[in-house]
Amino acid sequence: MSATSDRTGADAPRVVLGVSGGIAAYKACELLRRFTESGHRVTAVPTAAALHFVGEATWAALSGRPAATETWEDVHEVPHVRIGQQADLVVVAPATADLIAKAAHGLADDLLTNTLLTARCPVVIAPAMHTEMWEHPATRENVATLRRRGVIVLEPAVGRLTGKDTGKGRLPEPTAIFEACRAVLRRGGAVPSDLAGRHVVVSAGGTREPLDPVRYLGNRSSGKQGYALAATAAARGARVTLVSANAELPDPAGVDVVHVSTALELREAALEAARDADAVVMAAAVADFRPAEYVTGKIKKVEGVEPAPVALVRNPDVLAELSAHRTRSGQLVVGFAAETDDVLAYGRAKLARKGCDLLVVNEVGDGKAFGTDVNEAVVLGSDGSETAVPVGPKEVLADVVWDLVVKRLETVGNRP
Ligand code: CTP
Repeated sequence: MSATSDRTGADAPRVVLGVSGGIAAYKACELLRRFTESGHRVTAVPTAAALHFVGEATWAALSGRPAATETWEDVHEVPHVRIGQQADLVVVAPATADLIAKAAHGLADDLLTNTLLTARCPVVIAPAMHTEMWEHPATRENVATLRRRGVIVLEPAVGRLTGKDTGKGRLPEPTAIFEACRAVLRRGGAVPSDLAGRHVVVSAGGTREPLDPVRYLGNRSSGKQGYALAATAAARGARVTLVSANAELPDPAGVDVVHVSTALELREAALEAARDADAVVMAAAVADFRPAEYVTGKIKKVEGVEPAPVALVRNPDVLAELSAHRTRSGQLVVGFAAETDDVLAYGRAKLARKGCDLLVVNEVGDGKAFGTDVNEAVVLGSDGSETAVPVGPKEVLADVVWDLVVKRLETVGNRP
């Protein structure tokens, strides 16, 4: 299918891209492009202020349709009602503090704010503003109000802001916003906000255990499954802390990412984040052993001398520790297991040994699971349940895990 026919296909998802007046408006062009190139029908709704940064012609050219700003343009088509009603997804990027305040209070003085009031589809808001504005109690309360209503408000990124200052408030990268929106649309447009009010912790990637300043013991985990878990949880309304070990992936939008490297660092970050968490999912491949000794200078080869064997010591088992010391009543702990054979039998034994509530068992080897975009698994429950997840995107497996977590939180009486 050509890009043009994608764009005009009657069953293509309809996305409204709201753009409010911030310097990051230029980044919304890239987001728009990603949507249209992947077959979405996009209507751009820039605010009057946004047009100071990027003109109407750019929005119209990139979306292939007119971009309206005010409610009295094309009044006979009642755009202020129609655009919102017909959308499968509304995403506002960048969303200024002013736009967020208007959305929280139901103000409707232009086409974008009218659209937000008439939309019955999922709404994703990607804020961009200075750190002081993001941290102001007024903005905090407005964001909390929107999240309570099921609006997905992404966490801004940390980095360079307009001018010379840096801090939290940067628009998340267009790729990250796009992936967050896709996760929302993947669930048929009807994303449950069933993790709203929850704090979940996800570990991802693979730890590296240093031997000397240039060498380490590592593993082949890419972190993709853990990142998919974090992104889908954020799309379902959770506050997410992602403890990421050496994953070379962009930070998912709307997620607080703590970067670590070794198993000991991961343990510390995971235990700290888990203190007030409703659920902890250990998707990281944590090294079971680390070199007993760290050599501060690079180990050199010496002609004619055999290298000394590397002595290893055990790392703490973070999953077992989290399971044994729950920091909140009704807190759920989920583990992952990678097995090459006798997958279910080893999985059951591991579930019992680690004391977790759910164990996602993957079969690995022969190119399965590591580094790929798809996964196949069985999720074992401590209640004896078994949920098979056929081969599919890692986001699909992630959503199955969250479905089971949500159900279990209800069963154990853990309310948000
Ligand atoms: N895990 C952990 N801490 C460790 C090792 C593993 O928290 N030191 C967690 C992983 O994040 C994963 C689960 O435990 O959720 C399963 O890891 P795996 O290495 O497969 O389990 P092991 O108990 O090490 O079993 P095996 O004997 O197969 O190595």
